[in-house]
Amino acid sequence: MSESKVSRRTLIKTASLAGAAAGLGGLPKMILGEDGRWEIPAPTAADKTMVGVPFERHETVRLGIIGVGGRGTGVCSDFLHVPGLEVRAVCDIVPAKTEHAASMVERAGHPRPTEYHNGDHDYENLCKRDDLDLIYIATPWIWHVRMALSSLSNGHHTAVEVPAARTLMECWELVNASEKYRRHCMMLENCCYGETELMVLRMVRAGLLGELTHGVGAYDHDLRAELFGNGGEGLWRRFEHLDRNGNLYPTHGLGPVANYLECNRGDRFDYMVSMSSQSVGLQAWRAANLKSDDPRMKEIYHCGDQNNTLIKTAKGRMITVEHNVSEPHPYDRINLIAGTKGMFRDYPPRLYIDGQKEGEQFVGLDTYKADFEHELWSQEGELAKKSGGHGGMDYIMCWRLVQCLKEGLAPDFDVYDAAAWSAPGPLSEISVAKGSAPVKFPDFTRGHWQGSRKFAGV
Ligand SMILES: NC(=O)c1ccc[n+]([C@@H]2O[C@H](COP(=O)([O-])OP(=O)(O)OC[C@H]3O[C@@H](n4cnc5c(N)ncnc54)[C@H](O)[C@@H]3O)[C@@H](O)[C@H]2O)c1
Repeated sequence: MSESKVSRRTLIKTASLAGAAAGLGGLPKMILGEDGRWEIPAPTAADKTMVGVPFERHETVRLGIIGVGGRGTGVCSDFLHVPGLEVRAVCDIVPAKTEHAASMVERAGHPRPTEYHNGDHDYENLCKRDDLDLIYIATPWIWHVRMALSSLSNGHHTAVEVPAARTLMECWELVNASEKYRRHCMMLENCCYGETELMVLRMVRAGLLGELTHGVGAYDHDLRAELFGNGGEGLWRRFEHLDRNGNLYPTHGLGPVANYLECNRGDRFDYMVSMSSQSVGLQAWRAANLKSDDPRMKEIYHCGDQNNTLIKTAKGRMITVEHNVSEPHPYDRINLIAGTKGMFRDYPPRLYIDGQKEGEQFVGLDTYKADFEHELWSQEGELAKKSGGHGGMDYIMCWRLVQCLKEGLAPDFDVYDAAAWSAPGPLSEISVAKGSAPVKFPDFTRGHWQGSRKFAGV
């Protein structure tokens, strides 16, 4: 089946676990969800891979931003600190927000960007401009893919906030469009650029932890007050909890672990199982904080408070991904990676190496910094911490993306990472709905996952 003819059926097919062929007939049925497919589709002229395709060189990177709410404004500020970048256009449905972003650009000493605020579809006019190199999308999740498709089809490299896509069909739409229009579509997973994450990536590649066997990532973030807020994400994000039950936000935890394990760079996600707890956290919070006649008291949430997903990779490694935004707990992405010689885990960052002189206990990373700090942080870290969001990782991410565009490098992550890291969202919904049955990952790379590509030069 050609890529342009990917089936839109939503029916869930079951097929015998591939393991049946290996004599494992007693295992549960493997579910093939939505448009997911077992086979690697034969490449056609329209779907030449974007793996490793370098950007053309840019003297100056001309940026358009769609969505200048909380995140879009923050990242706009980071981009404005990066030399060689101009913000040419900003779009939001709220005029006051484009006005605010445009003034911010002016205050940074740049010409005022064009504002697009004429309704839900004015972003299409921004996308039609021929003086942009990159469009960055920071809108509610339901808008990401249609905006990315508009951007890609108008010939722009495209950066999408997390998660890039909400369904498998949307994942494939991004892959197909990136290949067809020969433009990169990157999901800006900022956590991959954290100081700790990039340092651990270097330690892992140097073999400190031996042969890697498993990792854990999480998004454990108490968002209850935000989900019921009267602005920002309170206007849309809670609705995702109404009819979805799974891991709604997998990429912050999964991205860095997928990098440690070289997923799409020598290994890949093969299949996963997922389980959700009951849903009571948001109900308890609103009972304590909203008036009894508030219309939100009538909403029915289906998303379980705690979701755990287990991913098996083609090389036999295992990844656990957690999601919990509905209960009280300190922020935690866990960020654990382990192998035959030791393990690292985060929050706080700590390491254990087999046979270390300190004995069987975790030690801090300080003594490793001199040898393993990533050069993005040793060179740009000071400014990143001063100007950048999320401890500086957002600035490092923006700086690195602009560097790749200016120097004509391939981006650190591509549309295949965007699709694979977003896919546990819809796949967890399918698995949870089927009593935690195993679900197969589509191979979005169409077989191009084996090469040893680097991430941020590592
Ligand atoms: N990477 C991170 O650390 C991080 C942090 C926060 C949010 N995010 C992601 O960023 C995205 C935006 O989140 P946010 O917190 O900024 O939400 P937000 O609600 O503050 O901002 C979204 C903006 O999109 C605008 N918008 C909605 N529909 C639009 C349309 N049709 N055209 C133009 N603009 C439109 C809204 O008016 C709003 O200003 C989400 O995908 C979220 O998951 C990522």
